[in-house]
Amino acid sequence: MQIAPSLLSCDFSKFGAEIERMDKAGADMMHLDVMDAHFVPNLTFGAPVIKMLRKYTSKPFDVHLMISNPLKYIDDFCDAGADIISFHTESDSNIEETIKKIESRGVKPALAIKPNTKAQDVFPYLDKLYMVLVMTVEPGFGGQSFMADMMSKVKAIKEEAKRRGLDLLIQVDGGIAKETIKTAADAGVDICVAGTAVFKPEDAKEAIDELKALCE
Ligand code: DX5
Ligand code: ZN
Repeated sequence: MQIAPSLLSCDFSKFGAEIERMDKAGADMMHLDVMDAHFVPNLTFGAPVIKMLRKYTSKPFDVHLMISNPLKYIDDFCDAGADIISFHTESDSNIEETIKKIESRGVKPALAIKPNTKAQDVFPYLDKLYMVLVMTVEPGFGGQSFMADMMSKVKAIKEEAKRRGLDLLIQVDGGIAKETIKTAADAGVDICVAGTAVFKPEDAKEAIDELKALCE
């Protein structure tokens, strides 16, 4: 299991140091939650901040766009150093065009779905995607409870990808903790985003090691 710490739970006054801390703790990638106070009822940071953070780690930047018009800003996030860009099927941008734009910049495209969105909504795009992000909480805030019933969507997407012979990764985001990660692993999840579970404990390395061990 790969672990992607969600920087939403970090101390924003020490953003660079927090990324270095997660790098040393064994994070597989950095999950950066971009919110526009329109697509979700919260506001975080944008491309200029991500660009400044790029120098603190060589690990991949997994940028999760919770914004209404992702297509308009893809160039900015690519220029800022994103390696993976996830955007939502529920956003206002044309999905095909947005995937194409991300791909044209040499960045890995991913589609994200909110809890009320069907797994089947991503099926038309599976062959063009690097990853599908299945939200296990309503996007907007850290520290919410894991929705285990989302695992049926993980399994459905995984199965469809397998049927087509695709190498697709599945990520879940929200409520991942010691008590819930095994459920995600058993459903076939490849990457778990974790905010509270890795930033709250004093020893982040221990927390990440333990989460990974629970999946074996
Ligand atoms: C929610 C964000 C998540 C969130 C996860 O909109 O996309 O990345 O920070 O936080 P935890 O792990 O605390 O649920
Ligand atoms: Zn996220």
